Amino acid sequence: MTKHAALRSARQVLDRATMMLNGQPIGTVAARGRGGVTAENYEECFIRDFSASALVQLADGRPDMTRNFLETVIRIREPNARFDAHEIQPGVMPASFRTRADEAGQQSIIADFGERAIGRVAPVDSMMWWMVLLHAHAQATGDRSLVTGRDIQQGIEQILRLCLGGSFEVFPTLLVPDASFMVDRRMGVYGHPLEVQSLFYAMLHTVGDLYDPRHGNPDLADRAAKRHKLLRDYVRAQYWLDSKRLREIGDFGTEQYGAGSRNALNISPESIPAWLTDWLPEQGSYFAGSLGPERMDFRFFGLGNLLAVVFWLASTEQTQWLMDLYEQRWDDLIGAVPLKLSYPAIEGTEWRLLTGCDHKNAPWSYHNGGSWPALLWTFVAAALIARHRELAERALEQAQARLASDDWPEYYDGRDGDVIGRRANRKQTWTAASFIFAHQLLERPELLSLFPGQAARGAA
Ligand code: GLC
Repeated sequence: MTKHAALRSARQVLDRATMMLNGQPIGTVAARGRGGVTAENYEECFIRDFSASALVQLADGRPDMTRNFLETVIRIREPNARFDAHEIQPGVMPASFRTRADEAGQQSIIADFGERAIGRVAPVDSMMWWMVLLHAHAQATGDRSLVTGRDIQQGIEQILRLCLGGSFEVFPTLLVPDASFMVDRRMGVYGHPLEVQSLFYAMLHTVGDLYDPRHGNPDLADRAAKRHKLLRDYVRAQYWLDSKRLREIGDFGTEQYGAGSRNALNISPESIPAWLTDWLPEQGSYFAGSLGPERMDFRFFGLGNLLAVVFWLASTEQTQWLMDLYEQRWDDLIGAVPLKLSYPAIEGTEWRLLTGCDHKNAPWSYHNGGSWPALLWTFVAAALIARHRELAERALEQAQARLASDDWPEYYDGRDGDVIGRRANRKQTWTAASFIFAHQLLERPELLSLFPGQAARGAA
């Protein structure tokens, strides 16, 4: 199929996904596959999925749906939302929402904060994507009237209170429960997963631009600025894995008490998995999946790493090294249909213990080593930032060869990522939207300025 035919088909999927509320477009549903969707809640608008739709529309110069979406989500914060008797904190945003009509045909919104979601997973990333989109909307339109609104300012303040308020932690990273982001099933991704840290970093970056402390709390703005810097330095130094660092960890002594310890988190050299030593090239590296006391998750998580580049959490050098890794391990990380969400898959006892025997996350399927074309735009953005346009083009050609003819699947299975996911929806909206936005980025790299950090980088 030609590029134009594939883009036309993607546009149809995106257009048909529009969700309306009383005559206004307010979002896009997750999927609208022929013959229904695999789970009931795919008929809802997911905050994280909508980010790809919003980016396409902002790039198109059609910001209305994004504006409506941002306002709608802040209105359905439902300060009194409950899970059993437990009140959900102000600032928490839903994973998804749907519309419902009363007898008179008047529509309203029902949101899911995790109290109905499979596994009762509470999203942490929703509020972060919301801030990233609020920032992108302001960048794209130059219109500050939305940002300065009372509801929006109050919402930002609640989010900041929630994330920067008291905690038991000593790290600048954000502590979150399992399955609280794109990987929304149990996969041993509790603690300090990279994807949440990349999004948290982006969110903190937007505070200076979006939050007006004159009407709110100047102390919160200060705390956000300090945390932003601490988080950057910590992730750049502690999550980073190249062959030199791997040798250093392999040499670590344990049980070191006190401030000067080289191995502050007490990581055991034996915890380095066998696959990694041969796999990691001499030039090429990435950020670990998660980090905490005596625990480094050595798996490669695509979205967290790519967002670290897109939001300028990765240094310029780290950005180059990450793209070098993609180039050298193309078959593993990109595969037949781009691109891997995590690598490698966990199997056997590890799979039993970390997923709780979750068959949807069987080895090389779904989140566990499956491939997600929804990540395409982040790869293209990262490749452009690293000045590796040829990698972006190559990934898009591979995607073009399959996505439209396979009817825009949600994900692919297999070590090579060449089989349509066993339980994948078709006409998955963020698959199509990501393909479109990736092309828009390739044609107009200046769209990178929609992202926190990138406008400053462009000017630097
Ligand atoms: C799955 C994905 C999640 C996504 C949702 C809707 O639950 O794991 O990340 O938001 O589907 O597409």
